[in-house]
Amino acid sequence: MYYPEELVEEIRTKNDIVEVISGYVKLTRKGSSYWGLCPFHNEKSPSFHVIGDRQMYHCFGCGAGGNVFTFLMNYENYSFQEAIKVLADRAGVSLPEVEYSEEMRRRENRRARLMEVNKEAAKFFYYQLRTPHGEIGYRYLKKRELSDETMKKFGLGYAGKNGGELVGYLRSKGFEDDLIKEAGVANFTERSGLISQFWNRVMFPIQDINHKVIGFGGRVMGDGEPKYLNSPETPVFDKRRNLYGLNFARTARAGNMILCEGYMDVIAMHQAGFTQAVASLGTAFTAEQANILHRYTDNVLLAYDSDGPGVKAALRGIGILREAGLTGKVINMQPYKDPDEFIKNLGREAFQKRIDEAENSFFFEIRMLERDYDLKDPDSKTRFHREIAKKLCGFSEAVERENYLRAIAEKYHIVSEDLRRLVNSAAAQTGLARPVVRPKSGVQSKSSAQDNEKRNQRLLITWLVDMPSLYGKVSRYLSPRDFTEELYRKAAERLFPELEKGKVNPAGIISMFEEEEEQREVSSLFHAGLPQLNTEAEKEKAFKDILMAVKKSSYEFYTSRLGSDVEALKQAIDGKKALEELAKTHISLN
Ligand code: CTP
Ligand code: MN
Repeated sequence: MYYPEELVEEIRTKNDIVEVISGYVKLTRKGSSYWGLCPFHNEKSPSFHVIGDRQMYHCFGCGAGGNVFTFLMNYENYSFQEAIKVLADRAGVSLPEVEYSEEMRRRENRRARLMEVNKEAAKFFYYQLRTPHGEIGYRYLKKRELSDETMKKFGLGYAGKNGGELVGYLRSKGFEDDLIKEAGVANFTERSGLISQFWNRVMFPIQDINHKVIGFGGRVMGDGEPKYLNSPETPVFDKRRNLYGLNFARTARAGNMILCEGYMDVIAMHQAGFTQAVASLGTAFTAEQANILHRYTDNVLLAYDSDGPGVKAALRGIGILREAGLTGKVINMQPYKDPDEFIKNLGREAFQKRIDEAENSFFFEIRMLERDYDLKDPDSKTRFHREIAKKLCGFSEAVERENYLRAIAEKYHIVSEDLRRLVNSAAAQTGLARPVVRPKSGVQSKSSAQDNEKRNQRLLITWLVDMPSLYGKVSRYLSPRDFTEELYRKAAERLFPELEKGKVNPAGIISMFEEEEEQREVSSLFHAGLPQLNTEAEKEKAFKDILMAVKKSSYEFYTSRLGSDVEALKQAIDGKKALEELAKTHISLN
């Protein structure tokens, strides 16, 4: 972490979480805390809970939770450092200059300059579109039914016929030729020296998630070739890691994201109210982009062109989404080519209907596969069924595979027993897919023994934070080492001394961790979702069960390490004793 802990704490305590969150979510006071509609998932009745005393929030619906930093990190998708900057600014706390190495500073300066060139170029194109010179571009966009408001929102522009003008303008702003060239907006030619890359095109500035221009796409206004010309990759323009429209889509919160192929498609969808639409940048959709989408949603709807290449791209996209742990669905665009044309012809309600009817991506894959076979021919039909079986092997989870197997069997009138046999023989030949590791996914679909242990450890910490008086009663049986999950142990090492002193500050503990993933995980420690229990006896039993479970798995953990870990022997002996004592002890909650 680059900032000292005290400073981070000062910034946190000077930004009241209720005030900050109120800027984003309508909160209603109930007793000592506040409730609202969760901004992190779609809901109709409030399960989002902000606790002023503890300076934390928690959603009982989707499990989101954390402190004021994690709220901004999740909502605005800021990094921890960015959240610190914004909140320091808000509270009027000044941050020390960060010590960069000479090399880093040079690189940062260069990047900043490249962004400035892009920004100035975007301004230039934007104004050009609105001059008599640019009328041809403006008329083109109007003909494509874009409103003035939409053109403004996306910063659309026009690159004139005189390629020297842009360069002249950028030079007048003090940018050197090599910088202008590196930004990808101009090129050296023998004949005219440095001139604009873009000539007589309508311009689509490409923005990063902070609305900063990082590159351009330019379209000919007619049938010329190439139809679109894009900025090359530069130090600020990484086509694998950015998505067109994401700067708006990231706050759409529609419960899904729509992925399409074209700039015009994104714009048409946003204009029609589908502000969750994004597109890749004239290049194929990447795994990096899938992971970025995963920060915002679990559901991605593909709105690819309905032609041959579009279907191919969709099939490829489905694979990438699945790898990233996302659920894909395919929007049927027929009889139109793409979302832009669909909406232009049939309107927004019809498009919404297509969204609602989007096809499960596996069904889509099989339906596309079917087109290659002649089901009237027994041979061909058999091969089709074998191919289905092979695809079913791609599901690593037995339940999921079985569910798909049954659905497909019914859909294609195959006896499920037969299909299952085909799957088994395909699996014998090719092997079943191994479960993919999905570190970022918040939802735990499988519940292994290890997940259970982690869950118990989280529950125990939540109990202690919720009822700090319990700590005194159990501290002799419990140590941070019992939290065999390393991150939890570190959190316990912070928390236990605080419990000892009777001054618990979980929101502060979260920001002591450096990595954002760690912060999210630690914040889950304080909101493990305790069961709703009514009687005192039930609660006492629940607490003791959790405590015993944690002690037991800690004991097993250390026993298994005897001989390889110097701490293990003491931990195992103490653990055994504690377990025996606890078995005989009644722990009351008051
Ligand atoms: N594209 C590109 N270079 C091309 C053609 C296409 O970079 N020569 C990229 C652009 O990002 C474009 C996307 O691929 O937005 C989709 O291309 P296409 O389907 O051909 O165009 P549309 O988006 O339908 O564009 P329009 O409606 O303007 O014809
Ligand atoms: Mn189109």
